[in-house]
Amino acid sequence: MPAVVIVGAQWGDEGKGKATDLIADRIDYVVKFNGGNNAGHTVVIGTEKYALHLLPSGILTPGVVPVISNGVVIDPEVLMEELDALEARGIDVSGLVISSHAHLITQYHRTLDKVTERFLGKRQIGTTGRGIGPTYADKINRVGIRVQDIFDEGILRQKVEGALHQKNHLLVKVYNRRAIEVDEVVEELLSYRDRLRPLVQDTALLLHTALEDNKTVLFEGGQATMLDVDHGTYPFVTSSSATAGGAATGSGIAPWRLSTVIGIVKAYTTRVGSGPFPSELEDEFGEFLREKGHEYGTTTGRPRRTGWYDAPIARYSARINGVTDFVLTKLDVLTGLDKIPVCVAYDVDGTRIDEVPWSQSDFHHASPIYEYFPGWSEDLTGIREFDDLPQAAKDYVLALEAMSGARISAIGVGPSRDAIVTRHALLD
Ligand code: GDP
Ligand code: IMO
Ligand code: MG
Repeated sequence: MPAVVIVGAQWGDEGKGKATDLIADRIDYVVKFNGGNNAGHTVVIGTEKYALHLLPSGILTPGVVPVISNGVVIDPEVLMEELDALEARGIDVSGLVISSHAHLITQYHRTLDKVTERFLGKRQIGTTGRGIGPTYADKINRVGIRVQDIFDEGILRQKVEGALHQKNHLLVKVYNRRAIEVDEVVEELLSYRDRLRPLVQDTALLLHTALEDNKTVLFEGGQATMLDVDHGTYPFVTSSSATAGGAATGSGIAPWRLSTVIGIVKAYTTRVGSGPFPSELEDEFGEFLREKGHEYGTTTGRPRRTGWYDAPIARYSARINGVTDFVLTKLDVLTGLDKIPVCVAYDVDGTRIDEVPWSQSDFHHASPIYEYFPGWSEDLTGIREFDDLPQAAKDYVLALEAMSGARISAIGVGPSRDAIVTRHALLD
């Protein structure tokens, strides 16, 4: 049975939680495999609205086993807060399973994230300030702290000492901050030990066994293709593998298990933080998209940058991830526009380029070449059948499909869980 992966096809916040919902009743396990509490998923169920950061949004579906696998960085304080908040609202979170290999975000990672950003000045990345980059940097530098270390106090202390030895020099001498005490960090981490112990497992084994037993496993990507540390707009990216391949390395399942790759793409584009964004709008249309689409960050509350749909980016994502189906979200937000521009290629210093350029400098210089599509004025939020959409909306979807490298199998027409038009079943 399939391992299914959901990935963002743009710069995040495409509405990935909505796609999870669409197939939730077919899923046995839902896995967060990358990132940490930099993610922000808003899920609307009836009149209830949930904002999740560290936990996968599939945790809201009863009967599904939520898993946080090795590719994730966990801030234990945030984890406890999020679990408590969901429990207080009657959601059963007792089944959560956490990888012993996942890395922990500590106080010094959060501090370093903030001070390095401040130091970068106008070159800053605009991170979420949650300690994500410094924690992944420690992982790659082999000085990270893993979940399993909490259960061996001697090892934990050695590792924290090792990490702080160098970091305190940096904090005090370069950034003019106070040194962080080893004891402070160790005590804090140990305080989570009893609560974490029953949740920790070999999640790679758990998922392998589940797949062998014909269970359906959903890998829920955080962030998105253009924020992926390898394939995104580096250095204006996050520090994890947010593309489909990351689901294999980030969980320890075999790559060939990933038979369905669902790319989530908005009917326009948004981005939070710095970096190139060719189809960005800084006029009243940009404001229209921001206000109508409620484009304010779930994690930091920052206004999102907004722009038109970028077809080369969708194609790039289709290729990198092997997208089998796109879910196009927020089509309803475009209602009321006379005409809708779509970026179909770029002009880079006078030369037309049809695909995302391999040079970051070219991407910074790229201006969009637009094709224009007629708009519509009808409200889409109550529509559930493709044929009932206004002709102009259908034409817009079909045009995007032809340009984007994979079929568009479902279309979001409103924020609520059921506001979706399905064209093709996502799972057989
Ligand atoms: P994620 O980071 O990809 O999980 O997405 P976010 O939750 O950060 O942002 C997506 C937002 O769009 C959420 O507030 C959703 O409720 C909302 N949303 C999702 N699909 C649709 C849709 O089809 N129409 C509208 N109007 N809103 C949607
Ligand atoms: P979801 O899962 C949008 C952006 C930050 C910043 C860059 C690096 O909700 O789609 P980081 O704190 O990760 O080191 O910041 O990445 N970013 C996101 N933007 N959606 C997200 O997640 C994001 N997670 C990180 O704004 O530009
Ligand atoms: Mg988000």
